[in-house]
Amino acid sequence: MSSTFHVRDHLRARGLTDERLEFLIQHSAEVIRGFQEPNGAYPASPTFSAYKGYSWLRDGSFIAEGMSRFGDVDSVNGFHDWVNTTLSARREQVDALVVRHQAGEDIPLADMLPTRFTFDGADGSDPWWDFQTDGYGMWLWQVGEHASRHRVDPAQWEAGMAVAFDFAAEFWNMNCYDWWEEHSEAVHTSTLGALFAGFTAVSRGNLLDDERTSRAVGLATQVREFILAKAVISGRAKDASAQHLSKWIGADTVDASLAACVVPFGVLGVDSVLAANTINAVERDLSVYGGVHRFRADVFFGGGQWLLLSCLVAWNKAASGDLESAADYLVWVASQALENGDMPEQVNTHMNYPEHEEEWIQKWGPAATPLLWSHGMFLTLADSLGLLETKA
Ligand code: BGC
Repeated sequence: MSSTFHVRDHLRARGLTDERLEFLIQHSAEVIRGFQEPNGAYPASPTFSAYKGYSWLRDGSFIAEGMSRFGDVDSVNGFHDWVNTTLSARREQVDALVVRHQAGEDIPLADMLPTRFTFDGADGSDPWWDFQTDGYGMWLWQVGEHASRHRVDPAQWEAGMAVAFDFAAEFWNMNCYDWWEEHSEAVHTSTLGALFAGFTAVSRGNLLDDERTSRAVGLATQVREFILAKAVISGRAKDASAQHLSKWIGADTVDASLAACVVPFGVLGVDSVLAANTINAVERDLSVYGGVHRFRADVFFGGGQWLLLSCLVAWNKAASGDLESAADYLVWVASQALENGDMPEQVNTHMNYPEHEEEWIQKWGPAATPLLWSHGMFLTLADSLGLLETKA
């Protein structure tokens, strides 16, 4: 890609005006800020029946990344305050889990830390697909990013980070539900990627005490080696040079969340062949006109195209220097926003299994809109293309 590529000219040429772009950027920050709870929790989607009243560490960490890049330091500090309070209250629970695990007990998933919390930090009473470790790694990663970007002192969140770290360190290689809250029978590659990012953040030395810091160095290496040894498969053509990451250990398919193993989690360097092949495989199998599916077999709401995944792939494209592709994805995402700027979780312009859409609408109502994670990712993608002028 030539260094003379002008992102804004390209966006205009593709029909995205400066005014609409600026509106969507500001609206994204307003949606996130506007729906943030007074205690700092970010709701996943304030109006969607199944997500109402809950905050996820996974969604929250990516929302925080977008807001941190946008420059709303107070909003992000507030979220980290909330996670810190929520996790600090789980100190004894995690200590007990570690003891039971080290004694060889087969711990029921229901006893593990939850995936999502009510705004007051409780588990909530609705059944959910609990036991997902990725969010704990992601939160450590985001604290590290935010603290260094804005020179915020992370020591204020140390108690919560120690809980997240101890939980992740003990259970990182266990089967658990993936980013999409499915397949608890497997070890998922993008979950490992998030844990790698969390351990790497801690290993840099300014988040936790010396003992945990040096453990984190070893864990980051272990997780990466585990991924490279077990989650690399040959491309469809069985051409060794087309090796790429797989959806889970033992799977022969891809999942769009794998892109995070490159950017932002850094398991694979942007310039590595394995990274390029993985992004290519994700695009080849899952990207349709700029809209990215989660995975081929996805039936949730018919298996539509997820805005946040288009942003994730595009963030990778921008990081690898392909600004034109990244800008094209941004145009697609912008064109999926409602007139008022709200961004949905997914759209049904192209579905894997249209026949499955109605059953979900009957169960939970129309797809989650606005989804704060979509807005957070839009801010991150805009920043990765140099389009955020409000950045602090
Ligand atoms: C997605 C999760 C997400 C949650 C809340 C679920 O449908 O699969 O990844 O964390 O919604 O947005």
